[in-house]
Amino acid sequence: MNYYIGIDLGTSAMKLLLMDADGRIYNTVSREYPLEFPKAGWSQQNPEDWREALLAGVPELLAGFDASRVAGIGCGGQMHGLVVLDEHDRVIRPAILWNDGRTAKQVDYLNDEIGKERLSEWTANIAFAGFTAPKILWMKENEPENFEKIAKIMLPKDYINYILTGVHACDYSDASGMLLLDVKNKRWSREMLELCDISEQKMPKLFESYDCIGTVLPEMAEKLGLPENVRVAAGAGDNAAAAVGTGTVGEGGCNISLGTSGTVFISSESFGVDKNNALHAFAHADGGYHLMGCMLSAASCNKWLMEDILQTSDYSAEQEAIAEDKLGENHVFFLPYLMGERSPINDTNARGTFIGMTMDTARADLVQAVLEGVAFAIRDSVEVAKDLGIEITRSKICGGGAKSKLWKRIFANVLNVELQCPESEQGPGMGGAMLAMVACGAYADVKRVCEKMVRVASVVKPEPELVTKYENRYQQFKKIYPAVKRLFPEIQ
Ligand code: XUL
Repeated sequence: MNYYIGIDLGTSAMKLLLMDADGRIYNTVSREYPLEFPKAGWSQQNPEDWREALLAGVPELLAGFDASRVAGIGCGGQMHGLVVLDEHDRVIRPAILWNDGRTAKQVDYLNDEIGKERLSEWTANIAFAGFTAPKILWMKENEPENFEKIAKIMLPKDYINYILTGVHACDYSDASGMLLLDVKNKRWSREMLELCDISEQKMPKLFESYDCIGTVLPEMAEKLGLPENVRVAAGAGDNAAAAVGTGTVGEGGCNISLGTSGTVFISSESFGVDKNNALHAFAHADGGYHLMGCMLSAASCNKWLMEDILQTSDYSAEQEAIAEDKLGENHVFFLPYLMGERSPINDTNARGTFIGMTMDTARADLVQAVLEGVAFAIRDSVEVAKDLGIEITRSKICGGGAKSKLWKRIFANVLNVELQCPESEQGPGMGGAMLAMVACGAYADVKRVCEKMVRVASVVKPEPELVTKYENRYQQFKKIYPAVKRLFPEIQ
């Protein structure tokens, strides 16, 4: 029996898991690293911290297990981050992450001067601040000396794969979020590379997520305590990997991820674009495609309120204080735009906002408002999907936020969708390991590994009375952002 290692290269930590091809999970390890916010709305991380997490995390994961049985490794990673290497493959500057908002000017240039229509034709998407191409333009303009040194551009998980194998590779799902890929035809967009002044030699080689990009280098195998010839899968962006981990593959699947970011992910066998480009049109890790809405601060809004503002780590106690009869009746609303917002409003200036407080507003009302605000903001993306004729009646749910029963119940009622909670909470890490199983030939394709591996453990059904109450609340929530939007740039 072989082992497979799944890696989730997250924003706050690297989570590793060890499993077999029957779906048994033997061990999990988490290694945190810092996140820098050097200016309001900026977000960076040092790729060398990821390397250290890998070097310490893999031996810790394997301690007490027969490492000679490890056959493959697959990684699901935070998307869009710009990692730049010089001619000696050294990291030039900290990675600019998916939730960084410094590129407002470059985004306007791309969307307004190059034009959304052309961008969409070339890449199936328009520019959002977190996407990689606007960051390249920002670097060219603001750090010309660093820009000149660029020999290779890659995404966060590709740096991990490079450390493991020495191969510069990227998979189609993650590459889709660079605004440099012709998503439909699965090749780098010549027009976009030219516009960013980047030659194709500086880009990694493209693979399907379940392809093997190479084997672990002998010196790395020794450092990590791995046998020779461990195969490394190309892996995927964390949302595509999480979708694999929850069995959201093929036609018409839906997964909601409640991590630092919040996403709604709709899988499809064929390529399709949202005509307004409010949802991203990306390739999927199963060889197909998906549409995705991404909010920048989801579980991180709750973490911020709990840890930074209320200074507690007892999330459950705070949620238990929310009275049953307050559900759907809260007069306090929260706009969850602590890092600006991506889908669907695309506004780097948007900010977190509490509104509707009175003298009898209690602490629990604010806690509830944050949970509800995140659910309402995901509903905004679900509404865009509805306008495209996509009907979502059930969805998988995963991510740290999905551990809260109350939050899942709020989501099921705000969205009027049945939520299916998979047995394993492991999302992107498990998806990474499953991709490695396909890369090693343990399964013929991604669909088959999902059929074998993913089991629904529980279901949260919408409750008609609460659905009606939350419908009213959502109609009110919807009016708040347009009413305050013009203030955000002024108050910064
Ligand atoms: C997706 C996105 C986020 C990150 C989080 O477009 O930006 O979900 O991938 O890690």
